[in-house]
Amino acid sequence: MKTTIKLASLKDLKKYTDLLQQTYQSAYTNEKLGLTADCFSKEIFATDNTQDYLKSHLINNHSQKTWLAFKDHVLVGSITCILENDDEAELTGFYVHPDYQGQGVGKKLYRQALEFSGNKDFVLDIYTHNTKTVKMYEKWGWVLDVSRGDNGYFYRHWPEWPKGLKAKAMYMRLKR
Ligand SMILES: CC(C)(COP(=O)(O)OP(=O)(O)OC[C@H]1O[C@@H](n2cnc3c(N)ncnc32)[C@H](O)[C@@H]1OP(=O)(O)O)[C@@H](O)C(=O)NCCC(=O)NCCS
Repeated sequence: MKTTIKLASLKDLKKYTDLLQQTYQSAYTNEKLGLTADCFSKEIFATDNTQDYLKSHLINNHSQKTWLAFKDHVLVGSITCILENDDEAELTGFYVHPDYQGQGVGKKLYRQALEFSGNKDFVLDIYTHNTKTVKMYEKWGWVLDVSRGDNGYFYRHWPEWPKGLKAKAMYMRLKR
């Protein structure tokens, strides 16, 4: 099935919300860490806070672009690149639906973001328990960014999560 890549718009909000909710839940749920499926529920993705975050990704301008990957009319993947300053671009919102992972959709999206970022360093943050994707980034030349956080690490808490629950995350950088 052919993959079509398009720039996102606010009209895509519903499909984009569903894609991210399902992919987050599949990739990040980890009972041992206390990150239950409820931490990434449809209800949390419907809150004003999360909807505002998702909407902020669907705006394209000279300093930010989001691309969406479709198979037929099904939204299967997304990526956002934000040009932060003269030296750095941020990679975020990089998700391919679990049913479509490992088929090259991610690489197609990644190429768009790489091109838009020019020769700026690329930065991102990622949960440390997402080991499969950390390994993928390492294979693609990314390294732990010790210049940020606590030697490259930090903890994230979503306001919707139970009090005290936090997930360990790391900063990564692709030097250009
Ligand atoms: C990370 C992600 C966006 C990559 O998209 P994708 O469509 O699966 O990626 P591709 O099929 O283009 O493959 C990219 C690389 O990852 C590897 N890979 C992807 N899915 C894999 C799988 N299920 N099992 C093993 N390897 C896999 C591929 O072998 C490929 O490696 P290569 O560069 O050596 O060829 C997607 O897997 C995903 O959404 N993961 C969960 C969420 C996540 O981790 N997002 C990133 C947050 S920072």
